[in-house]
Amino acid sequence: MLAMEYRGPKRIRATQKPMPEILHPEDAIVRVTRSCICGSDLHLYNGNVPDTRVGQTFGHEFTGVVEEIGSEVTKLKVGDNILVPFNIACGKCIFCKQGLFGNCHEGSPQATAAGGFFGYSHITGGYDGGQAEYVRVPYANVSPTVIPPGMDIEDAVLLTDVVPTGYQAAEMGGIQTGDTVVVFGAGPVGIMAARCAWLFGAGRVIIIDKEDYRLEFARNYSKCEAYNFQEIGDPVVFIKKQTDWIGADVCIDAVGAEAAGNALQTITGRKTLLQAGSATAVHWAINSVRKGGVVSIVGVYGPTDNLVPIGNVLNKGITIRANQTAVKRHLPRLIEHVQNGVLNPKGLITHRLALEDVADGYRMFSAKLDNCIKTVLIPSTAGM
Ligand SMILES: NC(=O)c1ccc[n+]([C@@H]2O[C@H](COP(=O)([O-])OP(=O)(O)OC[C@H]3O[C@@H](n4cnc5c(N)ncnc54)[C@H](O)[C@@H]3O)[C@@H](O)[C@H]2O)c1
Ligand SMILES: [Zn+2]
Ligand SMILES: [Zn+2]
Repeated sequence: MLAMEYRGPKRIRATQKPMPEILHPEDAIVRVTRSCICGSDLHLYNGNVPDTRVGQTFGHEFTGVVEEIGSEVTKLKVGDNILVPFNIACGKCIFCKQGLFGNCHEGSPQATAAGGFFGYSHITGGYDGGQAEYVRVPYANVSPTVIPPGMDIEDAVLLTDVVPTGYQAAEMGGIQTGDTVVVFGAGPVGIMAARCAWLFGAGRVIIIDKEDYRLEFARNYSKCEAYNFQEIGDPVVFIKKQTDWIGADVCIDAVGAEAAGNALQTITGRKTLLQAGSATAVHWAINSVRKGGVVSIVGVYGPTDNLVPIGNVLNKGITIRANQTAVKRHLPRLIEHVQNGVLNPKGLITHRLALEDVADGYRMFSAKLDNCIKTVLIPSTAGM
């Protein structure tokens, strides 16, 4: 089958790989109909995630048709058209039982912190992902969800990560009616977080990035204010000025470890790897939130970042909330929001490419070329 394959930092290709097989009675084999490229894939693509192995197939956002099921799969049948949340969750451990599907204790048993994800490094289980014609889906009774009749497949594929992550970013912010919410990062996740902030009652939503085309997109799509951090001076001072010198009520970090905007962070976090990435966005979020405010982090970081102003967290009484999204927990509500037109996920998609052009897709998304927001890959075997 055709699949995306990692060959080393910034080197990927579409290549022939063996068909996946059922390895456990709860597995399903799925023929992929759509898969996306995500900002989380860029951490792998750039070589920033430990134990990313040559030969790995990425892709944790995908839809597909069930081709084969193991003997213990009862919730799916062959031919079902499904969306597959990015978390690999067992459904039975103490964390899954609390709805913490992003923190399952079984999906990535060799790691104490990270849960299991499709198409990521071996610290998250080493499962091959969905940027392929076929994929093995473990714990098929737990997270995979039949796409409701009538739902557009492009809306469905964004329910596997971007929509729930934007939604959970806003939810973790504990937004109160009238709050000022600042979102750092106008990628697909930040744009969705800004849009979802209104659903929780925000009174003002501001998004910060450096890509003008993304800021323009966010203004229209998320109906928010949008500013380029390269044009506003110190972003922390700018946000203070915007809020009578009090600070924002809630700051959301939708950037993660590849943040730009601070030379020291970039040198220590991205060039010399003295810390696990550039913590610029979380730094700005902590310093621009008001005393007693909430910082919600969905941007992905490695385990240790030195340049995080933890003393300011203490002295300002800030609450920090962060997590990998528990996709399954949000699906019932978010499916309803899509069906009622409250959310329009497919509006984020700017590019549709054949799976064989996956390398071009990564290059374009990574370099922010051609006004790219979100790219969907379509295998020739998709059949739809
Ligand atoms: N927690 C989760 O479950 C989860 C799920 C999906 C994605 N993520 C993470 O969310 C983050 C965003 O994902 P995405 O797909 O939108 O990625 P993306 O790479 O498309 O977007 C990131 C944006 O941040 C901007 N940026 C860089 N430095 C900045 C700074 N200092 N301040 C403000 N903006 C800055 C970039 O220009 C870019 O537009 C990534 O770290 C990704 O790994 C987390
Ligand atoms: Zn993703
Ligand atoms: Zn579990």
